[in-house]
Amino acid sequence: MIPSAPSSRTCKIVAVDGPAGSGKSSVCSEVCRQLGWTYVNTGFLYRSIALIARQRNQRLDDNEALSGIINEFCEALQWDPKTQAVGFHGQNLSPQLYTDQAGKDASSIAKNPLVRELLLPLQRKLTLQSPVGAIVDGRDIGTVVFPDADLKIFMTASLEVRALRRMGQLQEGQQPDPAELEAIKTSILQRDQQDAKRGTAPLIQAPDAIVFDTSDLDIKGSIDAMIQLIKTHIKV
Ligand code: C5P
Repeated sequence: MIPSAPSSRTCKIVAVDGPAGSGKSSVCSEVCRQLGWTYVNTGFLYRSIALIARQRNQRLDDNEALSGIINEFCEALQWDPKTQAVGFHGQNLSPQLYTDQAGKDASSIAKNPLVRELLLPLQRKLTLQSPVGAIVDGRDIGTVVFPDADLKIFMTASLEVRALRRMGQLQEGQQPDPAELEAIKTSILQRDQQDAKRGTAPLIQAPDAIVFDTSDLDIKGSIDAMIQLIKTHIKV
């Protein structure tokens, strides 16, 4: 059974969920910087556990190995809320966390209810340390991790735009390679389907979430729009 969210807290919480590549991390991190809030990107937890399992040649479906890694990770994690750097036993995991493979592996272990249950308290702990406010992003933040969030945003964009952003070519105005673009679309779609179809904490829009579609917005427009949304709904 998933423990319910803590009932008393002092910091404001904005829950941001949405599919892969919707721009959550780039937008939320900059919004937090501008507001003086803390950004908690929960995907890094799933990515870290999958990465450590790979480094130790463990199977990604071995519950005993995964629980051992998660318990050890919760004890040894050194996380810098300002830079989002992830340290584990003195090793900086960050450079290896954001590869396509790490994302796929994270999505694979994220299907596992035991992994989700064991990572839940850590997500809440990291968030509740925030002195003023926090934006927490993931797939189940508004539905499971913080169902009592002050504001819930479901951030999305068209598949085409998300793939182009992944390629990092929207901003640079280059012509994307069509074959590479198709491959990225397929990879994003597979991850979205895996995240949306799993039995535990699937990617779904919370009924009380505001849909924030950034397909027609550039990064600055998205940041400004999110700040506006927050200021409209929360006294900051
Ligand atoms: O957000 P990011 O792409 O870093 O997340 C990697 C994977 O971790 C997602 O595809 C998803 O399967 C999983 N995840 C999750 N719940 C979260 C955050 C991430 O299931 N709260």
